[in-house]
Amino acid sequence: MARNMSYMIIFISVFGLCLSSKSTLINLTTAVFNDYDPSIRPYCQGHEQVNVTMDLAVRQLIDMNEPDQIIKLNLWIRLRWIDCLLTWTPSDYDNITDLIVPFDKVWTPDITIYDSVSEELYGLEKFRANVSYDGAINYNFPTVIEIQCQVDVTNFPFDRQMCPLQFGSWIYTGNLLDMNIENDHADLSALKENVEWEISKVPAEKHIKKYSLSSDPFVDLTYNLYLKRKPRYYEANIILPSIIITLLATLGFLLPVDSGEKVSLEVTVMLSLTVFQLLVADRLPPSDEARPLLGEFFTFTLILCGLSTFVQVAVINIYYRGDRKMSGWMNKLILKPLAKITLTKATLLNQKAHDDDNTTNDDSVDDLDNATKWQTLSICIDRVGLILFIVILTIGCIVIFTHFT
Ligand SMILES: *[C@@H]1O[C@H](CO)[C@@H](O)[C@H](O)[C@H]1NC(C)=O
Ligand SMILES: *[C@@H]1O[C@H](CO)[C@@H](O)[C@H](O)[C@H]1NC(C)=O
Ligand SMILES: *[C@@H]1O[C@H](CO)[C@@H](O)[C@H](O)[C@H]1NC(C)=O
Ligand SMILES: *[C@@H]1O[C@H](CO)[C@@H](O)[C@H](O)[C@H]1NC(C)=O
Ligand SMILES: *[C@@H]1O[C@H](CO)[C@@H](O)[C@H](O)[C@H]1NC(C)=O
Ligand SMILES: *[C@@H]1O[C@H](CO)[C@@H](O)[C@H](O)[C@H]1NC(C)=O
Repeated sequence: MARNMSYMIIFISVFGLCLSSKSTLINLTTAVFNDYDPSIRPYCQGHEQVNVTMDLAVRQLIDMNEPDQIIKLNLWIRLRWIDCLLTWTPSDYDNITDLIVPFDKVWTPDITIYDSVSEELYGLEKFRANVSYDGAINYNFPTVIEIQCQVDVTNFPFDRQMCPLQFGSWIYTGNLLDMNIENDHADLSALKENVEWEISKVPAEKHIKKYSLSSDPFVDLTYNLYLKRKPRYYEANIILPSIIITLLATLGFLLPVDSGEKVSLEVTVMLSLTVFQLLVADRLPPSDEARPLLGEFFTFTLILCGLSTFVQVAVINIYYRGDRKMSGWMNKLILKPLAKITLTKATLLNQKAHDDDNTTNDDSVDDLDNATKWQTLSICIDRVGLILFIVILTIGCIVIFTHFT
C-alpha cells in the first residue's frame, strides 16, 4: 500500500514536471513558429543570402554495378544554415536553447544530387531538424543514393575509379542560396568496409557555374569519391588459373603424335579460356571505348591457342605422310636447317632405319627413308612451334601486364 503510494507520488511529480516543461515548450514553439511559413526561404535585413554549409560522411558503398555504371551509397548528410526568423531569448523560456522539430516545420534547402538514377534524395524530407535560439539549424539525415558513375575498366581488376557526387540546390541561384563545404574531405570515420572496393579519399570542391538558362550563378558542391578495387579475388580466381591454363597449352607441343591428344588438349584450353573471358565480360560494361586489358589478354591467348591448334594439325598431318617422296628442296631447305636448329636427331625416332642396318644417322638426315623424313620434319615443326609459342606468350604477357597502371 505504502509502496503503491510512493509510486503514485513519483508518477504525479514526474508527470507534473513534464507538464510544466512541456507547456514552456509549447509556449516557445507557439511563439517561434507563429507567423512562420516553412515554404518561404528565410529573408531578413542583412541576411539576404542563406548560407548552407554541408558536410558528408560516407557510411557504406552498398553496390557498384559496373555493367550499368551505377553506384549505390549510404551517406550521412549534415546541413547547417542560419534561419534568421527562428530566434528567441532562452532566458524567457526556462533557458531552453534548442528545439527538435520535424523537417516540415522549418524551411529546408532543396538540395538534390545530380546524376541520380533514383527518384529523389531519399531522407531529405523524413527527419528532424535541430533549431537553436540564435537561428542556427542543424539538419542531419541518412540517405541512400544511386548515381550514374562513369567506370573506366581498362585496368580491371587493378582499376581505380572516381565518382563525382554533385550536390546543389535545384531552384535557388547562388545569389539566394550559397553553399559551402564544412571540411575539405568527407568524413570516413564511420565507414563500413566493402568487400570489393576501398574508398581511398573523398575530397570536396565548390563550383560556381552559369547555365544558359539564367544569368545568375548556381553553386554546387562536388565530393569526388576515389575508389580502388581490391584485386585479390580476381587474381586468385581468374588471372592465376587462366595463366596456368595458357601454360598448359604449351604441353600440346610436347605430347607425342601417337598419343592422339595434341589437338584435343589445345581445344580444351581454348574452351576454358573462353569460360574465363565470359566471367570477366559479365562484370564489365559492354563499352567500346575502354577495352579491359584483361580482355585483351584473353583474346591474345585465345588467338595463340587457335594458331597452335593449326600447327598441331599440320604436325599430325605431316607425321602420317607415309612413304610419299619428300622433294629435294624441301629436304635441303626446310628439313635440314630445321633439324639443326631444333637439335632433332633423326635416329631417335625412326624404327625402320634401325631395322635395315645399324648405321647411326646422328647428324645426317640424308639417308633416311621417306616416312622417317616426314616424321622428323613434323617433330622439327613441333619444336619450332613450342619455341615460338613460349616466346610470343612471354612477350605478349609482358606487353599486356606492363600496360596496367
Ligand atoms: C505559457 O503561456 C501561458 C499564456 O500565454 C501562461 O499562462 C503560462 O504561464 C506559460 N507557461 C510557462 C511555463 O511559461
Ligand atoms: C558562409 O559560411 C561559411 C562557413 O561557415 C563562411 O566561410 C562564409 O563566409 C559564409 N558566407 C556568408 C555569405 O555568410
Ligand atoms: C537560466 O540561466 C541563468 C544563468 O545561467 C540562471 O541564472 C537561471 O536560474 C536559469 N533559469 C532557469 C529557469 O533554469
Ligand atoms: C542541437 O544543437 C545544439 C547547438 O548546436 C546542440 O548543443 C544540441 O546538442 C543539439 N541537439 C541535438 C539533439 O543534437
Ligand atoms: C651392326 O653393328 C654390329 C655391332 O654393333 C656390327 O657387328 C655389325 O657389323 C653392324 N652391321 C652393319 C651392317 O654395319
Ligand atoms: C622415297 O620415295 C620415292 C618415290 O615414292 C622412292 O623413289 C625413293 O626411293 C624413296 N626414298 C627412300 C629413301 O626411301
